[in-house]
Amino acid sequence: MSQVLTGTPLTGRVAVVTGASSGIGEATAERLAQLGAKVALLARRNDRITSTTDRITAAGGTAIAVPTDVTDRNSLKAAADRITTELGPVDLVFPNAGVQLISEVVDLKVDDWDAQIDLNIKGVMNTIEAFVESLVQAAADGKPADLITTSSIAATRVLEKFQVYSGTKAYISQLTRLLRTELGRKNVRVATIEPGMVDTELPDHDASKLMADLIDQIDVLQSEDVAETVAFLTVVPKHVNLNEITILPTAQAI
Ligand SMILES: NC(=O)c1ccc[n+]([C@@H]2O[C@H](COP(=O)([O-])OP(=O)(O)OC[C@H]3O[C@@H](n4cnc5c(N)ncnc54)[C@H](OP(=O)(O)O)[C@@H]3O)[C@@H](O)[C@H]2O)c1
Repeated sequence: MSQVLTGTPLTGRVAVVTGASSGIGEATAERLAQLGAKVALLARRNDRITSTTDRITAAGGTAIAVPTDVTDRNSLKAAADRITTELGPVDLVFPNAGVQLISEVVDLKVDDWDAQIDLNIKGVMNTIEAFVESLVQAAADGKPADLITTSSIAATRVLEKFQVYSGTKAYISQLTRLLRTELGRKNVRVATIEPGMVDTELPDHDASKLMADLIDQIDVLQSEDVAETVAFLTVVPKHVNLNEITILPTAQAI
């Protein structure tokens, strides 16, 4: 997707992006910075987030790499303290880190079940725990405040072997709907993005070879397409909350 937004409409915003070392998170962090936000990039691979922050800084933006395992609440709380000190109070949170490990339930790949639940569900809850007070405070101060989660079309589609992954994403979609009932009243915008197939590292894991094969067959989304969509949610007037966004490759049939 060519970039549709122009200028620096996010000047003054402080954003946190998890899963920022590759794919959707990396592209979104870079785009939010191009649009003027100060951005904290969180992931476990420090070399990857550092090279992206170097690129952002070289282009005149402001970003910091904060190596963090989002399944570890203490790691996230330490990250939140550092971000607030170095960039200021956070008003844009994109808890995006996720993993997809598909299998049949009878295969009893319980470690894969745990990995998906720990990251896709608990990792998001830990991120919300670390930043929700800051979002509510930003909104109370009259600033825009955004919590944008990454769900998936898998939240609603019936896809073989996706039982646990889809379950985690259904949790995220429903969580986001319900959070709106609470945070909307406090003027915090809450949204979820439900992408179809995006060409990232996600399906490179052996268990997701099915997805990798499909990616070779159609013109799938690029991370930049999702990044531009996330950015768009944050630049509309602050009384406008685009809430549940499904974004699909045009040729994806399901
Ligand atoms: N690609 C698709 O087709 C698609 C479709 C719908 C939804 N999604 C969702 O989009 C989100 C981003 O995925 P992606 O496609 O961009 O895949 P990706 O390139 O594999 O990115 C996943 C990110 O999560 C991070 N991560 C993994 N474990 C972590 C942990 N414990 N703590 C912190 N970060 C961790 C990874 O970084 P480190 O390994 O460095 O920690 C990486 O930056 C996921 O929630 C995924 O479910 C993707």
